[in-house]
Amino acid sequence: MAYSTSRETLGLTQPSQIDNPLHIEFDMFLQKLKISFAAKEIDLVEWEGDMLAVGVAEKDMAKDENLKYKNSIMHKLDSRLPGLLSESSSEEDFTGKTGQYMVLRLPGLGSKRICLIGLGSATSAIASYLNLGETLGEVAKNTKSNKIAITLSSTDWISKESKLATASAIATVVLGTYEDNRFKSESKKSTFKSVEILGLGTGYEIDTKLKIAEVVCSGIIFGKELVNAPANVLTPGILAEEATRIAAEYSDVFTAKILDVEQCKQLKMGSYLGVSAASANPPHFIHLCYKPPGGAVKTKLAIVGKGLTFDSGGYNIKTGPDCSIELMKFDMGGSAAVLGAAKSLGQIKPVGVEVHFIVAACENMISGTGMRPGDIVTASNGKKIEVNNTDAEGRLTLADALVYACNQGVAKIVDLATLTGACVVALGPSIAGVFTPSDDLAKEVLAASEIAGEKLWRLPMERSYWKYMKSGVADMVNTGGREGGAITAALFLEEFVDEKVQWMHIDMAGPVWNYKNKSATGFGVATLVEWVLSHSLFVLISNRNVMIT
Ligand code: BES
Ligand code: MN
Ligand code: ZN
Repeated sequence: MAYSTSRETLGLTQPSQIDNPLHIEFDMFLQKLKISFAAKEIDLVEWEGDMLAVGVAEKDMAKDENLKYKNSIMHKLDSRLPGLLSESSSEEDFTGKTGQYMVLRLPGLGSKRICLIGLGSATSAIASYLNLGETLGEVAKNTKSNKIAITLSSTDWISKESKLATASAIATVVLGTYEDNRFKSESKKSTFKSVEILGLGTGYEIDTKLKIAEVVCSGIIFGKELVNAPANVLTPGILAEEATRIAAEYSDVFTAKILDVEQCKQLKMGSYLGVSAASANPPHFIHLCYKPPGGAVKTKLAIVGKGLTFDSGGYNIKTGPDCSIELMKFDMGGSAAVLGAAKSLGQIKPVGVEVHFIVAACENMISGTGMRPGDIVTASNGKKIEVNNTDAEGRLTLADALVYACNQGVAKIVDLATLTGACVVALGPSIAGVFTPSDDLAKEVLAASEIAGEKLWRLPMERSYWKYMKSGVADMVNTGGREGGAITAALFLEEFVDEKVQWMHIDMAGPVWNYKNKSATGFGVATLVEWVLSHSLFVLISNRNVMIT
């Protein structure tokens, strides 16, 4: 159904009655996303295409006494272009430092252009490839390059295993350069059509890795699109619809359950429903269940995401120039990571692990039916909360979501949430805070995040700060003040987790958004997928049974 004329004139939105624009746009987008990845062994100077990108480590720019490159790949390229590479790099001060790049259009190679991209000195860190992808994306767009090859100046130091990881990291970051043009009248089309990775080996193993990287990318892009979609488009109902679509698309492994207000009332989710009470767009509690092919389950996991499609603050409304109220569509970034991971895992199909994807989706708005500061709500585990600040709403929704997750009989839970400004103050915009009483779970998830190239930093669950959460009339208040705000938020969440369950909370209020690009990052998807895969020995990607290393 389209807008009625009168509504259009008045500029009023009735989101629940609009067609879901994400459907149309996302289908369109999938066509754009037809990028193929392949690993090949072709001589660099013979490779034919629009652009040959070489990731160059600083050390590989070194020259011998005859001013020739010591590095064999650089030497080979330079000899083919008789000396021009060497000349232009000194003219343009290209020394291989991270962030530097140089594009040349030269005859003498199979490729139209060559692009050198600095990798700095830390060439072993997957994260250093992020820069490579970002630069490449920009250059490819400016030069309208469709067919691209990527190689590294030296690979001898990479073991076989990390060659695979390197290849998939490169693939991930290349797709990470995707631009969301759904809400623009005119758009610059992304140009990538095929990306070939040279010099990292060929064959079945690397092909599988690249296929996994490709579907992780599809999950990341899906997550970005959810976060970028404004709150008048992405309502809790639409988020639930998107979740249902994932389950339908991969119905061999997924089932979806969406609970409405009445069903949540029956489950006594007073804390979650308190937050949604002011909203004209009703809450939707989302539960996707992944059951592995073959049926046998070794480990049961849950992933819980904060799903505030908009956070006005409620009666403690967000005011002032730094409150970022206009960005609070991103307050469902946790749920975007959860659903993005679901979309990827539906394609990868890990064996032996059951995963529950849970989101208590709603808006935090203002109206006569809304929750007042000072109200006392009761969560589904019976705990009574005095709401001393309606803007600390995320934890109220997560409380009931965590109780629900524990009731699924899972061994481990990871929750992700854009929970506190305090965490951004502590760690800045690029690093997420991690809280968990379990050293084992910390190890597992931090290892997964390393592979994924996402930055996490563990912060303490300082129990003595619980004193700030005491209420005179109820079991607790929902905010403990400004100091240590990310820690008191984590302590609050812990009240809703079963002691038998290993649990981790990830505060991603910083990394959810790229302020420079004014766009979502898709943060969390890659780490979640890696974490789930670490609980599985085999995957059934493309209907093939593949061992994961
Ligand atoms: N969604 C916000 C947290 C947030 C703030 C994320 C800025 C990203 C950027 C959350 O619901 C919130 O409002 N938290 C309050 C908690 C406070 C009232 C204890 C905050 O951080 O100010
Ligand atoms: Mn808030
Ligand atoms: Zn919030």
